[in-house]
Amino acid sequence: MTMETILDKLKNLGITSGELDINEGERTEMMNQVAGYANAFISELRQVKGFRENKVGDLTIKNKKSPLAQLLLQYQTEVAENGINAASPKHLGYIPGGGVFTSALADFIVAVTNPFSGAYYASPGAATIENEVINWLKSVFSFPKSAVGCLSSGGSVSTLIALTAARDKYKIKNDKILSSVVYMSEQVHHSTQKALRIIGLEDVVIRYVPMDEQHRIIPNALDALIEKDKADGLSPFLVIATAGTTDTGAIDPLHAIADIAHAHKLWFHVDGAYGGFFILTSRKDLFKGIERADSLIVDPHKSLFLPYGVGAVLIKDSNAALQSHYYTANYMQDGHNEELLKSPANLSPELTKHFRGLRVWLPLQVHGLDPFTACLEEKLLLVEYFRIKLKERGFCLGPSPDLSVSYFWYPFSTHDDEKNRKLMDEIHKDGSVFLSSSIIEGRFVIRIAILAFRTKKETIDEALEMIDRCLKRVQ
Ligand SMILES: Cc1ncc(COP(=O)(O)O)c(C=O)c1O
Repeated sequence: MTMETILDKLKNLGITSGELDINEGERTEMMNQVAGYANAFISELRQVKGFRENKVGDLTIKNKKSPLAQLLLQYQTEVAENGINAASPKHLGYIPGGGVFTSALADFIVAVTNPFSGAYYASPGAATIENEVINWLKSVFSFPKSAVGCLSSGGSVSTLIALTAARDKYKIKNDKILSSVVYMSEQVHHSTQKALRIIGLEDVVIRYVPMDEQHRIIPNALDALIEKDKADGLSPFLVIATAGTTDTGAIDPLHAIADIAHAHKLWFHVDGAYGGFFILTSRKDLFKGIERADSLIVDPHKSLFLPYGVGAVLIKDSNAALQSHYYTANYMQDGHNEELLKSPANLSPELTKHFRGLRVWLPLQVHGLDPFTACLEEKLLLVEYFRIKLKERGFCLGPSPDLSVSYFWYPFSTHDDEKNRKLMDEIHKDGSVFLSSSIIEGRFVIRIAILAFRTKKETIDEALEMIDRCLKRVQ
């Protein structure tokens, strides 16, 4: 190609490709539209339903230009008004959080400025913010300064990172897999078994440790299982406890479990994805022993109420974490070795990644910690209030939870499970407030997961009215 043709083509292509870099006037106009949309969405949150089930319309990519205003309308009907409204106060199913607005602003700034936060040398400020979030978490959970960690997309990936470090520290591979033993309770989140499968440990021996009536691991039973496995020639290597179970809001006795894990020289992992931040509340004594974990996961997108997409993992043994996740290549040579632990990519499977640090750092800096703690205390009281009101109505309740997740069922005279299932269906059809269900000890139960930051007493009252309405339809 001649130089003249090249220049000519570049000129023409530049006109079309330049459309991606919109001018200030258009940017302002678009930001105003989005700000208007966001404000209207948030203002309506208290009026709209917690759950709606509609058929999704046509969202195919048509390879043609559409105005932003039209796309926002489409987003509203197809996404925002369909399914669980996870930003609303009325999401009391699964594990809600809500999505604090200042975190959304942080994401916007991150997307505009697009720093490369994986490597310290590429964006020392962004990497430092990520590391400061990790430092803050270390102080919250009384982990030593020498511990390392990273921000992930959520609890499942954090578990993957932590268990990979445990696997590599104990060199669990090849023939060793079949005789290695992992201990957990049946109340662990399923992302635990999933992580073991993904990291090649599907064939380890899993021992489900008996639980007490509060759904907490019984330490003596754990010790007995480990002793027996050792006597039988197996190799125990990992104990997993949960600080806030998904179905029952229970905290395993962490201190006693740490004693056992350490006595047997096993890796002690704690899943605090849902419950972790309740350590900031009056329930902090229940978390004693969490600081003795070898690895801990905690989800700011759950009990710090941030929008979905940010989990965290702390690992005490930096060598174990590096052994799993540090890798280099010729094209990474501009980085410096002394920056090893300052570069988030060395502790995570991700290289180029969303700069998640700001979506945690900014809200904490703007609001301070008190509103977060108050929100958590509020949720603990709301679950108590909900349970008292349900009991008054004749519902049976699961044991008093350590945190803000509990469950209930109605004692119908016949076909208990079937009718509670029907009650759940009616609640979903009604949709004013979203609740989800589970099976606990073989029984169909309806869960209450009170965590979203916008959930207040009015929401619980609305849920109770809805339950009354739905119960009438089932009886
Ligand atoms: C206790 C617990 N651990 C892990 C997870 C998985 O977290 P994520 O959904 O962020 O991957 C959850 C999710 O609800 C959970 O409740």
